[in-house]
Amino acid sequence: MELAGKHLVLGLTGGIACYKIAELTRLLTKAGATVQIVMTEAATQFITPVTMQALSGRPVYTSQWDARMPNNMPHIDLSREADAIVIVPASTDFLAKLAQGRCDDLLSTLCIARDCPLLVVPAMNRQMWQNPATQRNVAQLRADGVEVLGPDSGSQACGEVGDGRMIEPEAAFEAICAFFQPKFLCGQRVLITAGPTFEPLDSVRGITNRSSGKMGFALALAAAQAGADVHLVTGPVALDTPWGVYREDVQTAQQMHDAVMAATPDADIFIAVAAVADWRVDHVAEHKIKKTGDGSLPTFSFVENPDILATVAKLPNPPFCVGFAAESGDLDVYGAEKRERKGVPLLIGNLGPLAFGRDDNEVMLFEASGTTPLPRAGKLDLARTLIAEIAKRAPKTGGALLS
Ligand code: C5P
Repeated sequence: MELAGKHLVLGLTGGIACYKIAELTRLLTKAGATVQIVMTEAATQFITPVTMQALSGRPVYTSQWDARMPNNMPHIDLSREADAIVIVPASTDFLAKLAQGRCDDLLSTLCIARDCPLLVVPAMNRQMWQNPATQRNVAQLRADGVEVLGPDSGSQACGEVGDGRMIEPEAAFEAICAFFQPKFLCGQRVLITAGPTFEPLDSVRGITNRSSGKMGFALALAAAQAGADVHLVTGPVALDTPWGVYREDVQTAQQMHDAVMAATPDADIFIAVAAVADWRVDHVAEHKIKKTGDGSLPTFSFVENPDILATVAKLPNPPFCVGFAAESGDLDVYGAEKRERKGVPLLIGNLGPLAFGRDDNEVMLFEASGTTPLPRAGKLDLARTLIAEIAKRAPKTGGALLS
């Protein structure tokens, strides 16, 4: 489980976004975290401590004078147990308090008494967010090492539209998970291809394959959680955009090639996970090809698609290139041969029919120095391992390492 063993203090302050914290608490506990809710008095006007106790499975603290702690020092004890304190939603007033180090209630006191990281998730009206005082306070908090998650832009509870609304609970959850991941790729720019391609035959039909995109999307998420700036170019898949990832959708191999070539100059690392079609028809029929009725069959002639990975690897100053290979047998032989043919320093091989569409995978690393098998794991765990392995090998400033 993503957050197994993590203990979080969720601090709710006064704002209508408090209703979103019911869902966030559920997501966090489902992922294995224990959640201790602390609420300001204003927060209790928006959602009840009863609701938050039921969802977190723990008594809620709202007062500095709560006598339930044996030593009567909830501000110390609650923060000492925590791996992180997350203020969500963080009101304008609470951000101001934090920036100034004021502590006139339990939540602000436990924040200043903490010895763990502090994350804040602002939620407020757009004018309150834009106010120079708020911007000063947020800049001060960032300078103090506080992690600021959001805010989002869009329609607000007050009816206005702009910056300041709280990021959605799912995004807050992903950002909290990301916070606990080691930052192997901090500041690196990673370009990833994922999914299948779709090569049209006519206006309604086409050739594709069974790639689900799950492995590429898991790598994109793991790279973003490891601190990278991630650009994901994906073929047609039924997957949500991973947290913190810039996504570009394409259909054909040629479109994927063009998108990748445009993005390559800004990439330090290129990870080609997509199952790109090897061929396309040389002439796509403009309209749906009709059955003739006399038994004669359509014929197609094919041309080869560009090999995106090999093309990028051959550039004069390529990013660190990582390929994937799905084979249906003899992975040892084909993997090593494919790495050399593609001209990449690292190739990750798997047995395709065993990997497509599944939630777990088992891979082998191929590089000039030899092969390394990795044990079967869920695709996100495996993606994290692979990102750590790629980070170990990629130069910090890009450039090919083919040896
Ligand atoms: O040749 P094969 O398709 O098995 O090679 C797999 C690797 O090459 C993958 O990393 C895949 O994303 C990449 N590839 C590519 N462009 C192609 C074909 C494969 O980038 N046209």
